[in-house]
Amino acid sequence: MDWGLKNRMSRIIRPDTGRSVMLAVDHGYFLGPTTRLEKPRDTIMPLAPYADVVMLTRGVLRTCVDAGIPNSVVLRVSGGSSIVGEDLSNEEIITSVEDALRLNASGIALSIFVGSKHEKQTLVSLSKLVDEGERYGMPVLAVTAVGKELGKRDARFLALSSRIAAELGAHIVKTYYCENFEKVVEGCPAPIVVAGGPKMTEKDALELTYNSISKGAVGVDMGRNIWQSDNPVAMIKSVRKIVHENATAKEAFEMFKELTKKK
Ligand code: 5RP
Repeated sequence: MDWGLKNRMSRIIRPDTGRSVMLAVDHGYFLGPTTRLEKPRDTIMPLAPYADVVMLTRGVLRTCVDAGIPNSVVLRVSGGSSIVGEDLSNEEIITSVEDALRLNASGIALSIFVGSKHEKQTLVSLSKLVDEGERYGMPVLAVTAVGKELGKRDARFLALSSRIAAELGAHIVKTYYCENFEKVVEGCPAPIVVAGGPKMTEKDALELTYNSISKGAVGVDMGRNIWQSDNPVAMIKSVRKIVHENATAKEAFEMFKELTKKK
């Protein structure tokens, strides 16, 4: 890796722990003003101090985030479809690497839709983005999207998608936790971060975090299970305790309850 790429990677995955807490707040790019992300500034700013990275679109970054925040930024650069449109997998690159550089992004993220009608288009986009990323020292995070078909969240499918992303040159792969998750990690030579998925109980989300880390993920890129919690700051602090301090799910949940009580 060239110095710039290595430096940006170290702003995403902390070199001292080898791990990362990424706060995903990019959902509006296809979901609009989704629950508890209606006013992005109100959601993001209280949580930012506890995240290593904020993952979002350039529009929200420019309008809702103070330029003085110490966090690294991973910019979502794929899109073009919406939840009410014909096909969520019909995504293209929507933001240039030049703009990502102007915004001082530490990485750029794009979804791939393996097994969908637009599989080829999204995989070719990933390859092109990696070419550009390598040219400018910008890491590319590939999101193994499952679209509306949540049933696709099994180790066989996620291992296939994650491996393809790594083979095409993604520097980091974001996928979902599943049964036999270790198979997904084993088959993917790039570091993996795990998405939280739809809101579940805090206890379950902390277990998902713990299981992902103990089976080889380098971190989480979590959204709804943090900011749709009634105590989002307590939740991100508890996630952080697992990711960076090797707490167990039980210890982190105790911490969550304690912080909630204090609040
Ligand atoms: C959407 C994304 C989201 O950032 C991702 O789903 C993470 O958020 P959540 O934890 O809410 O699932 O990449 O394509």
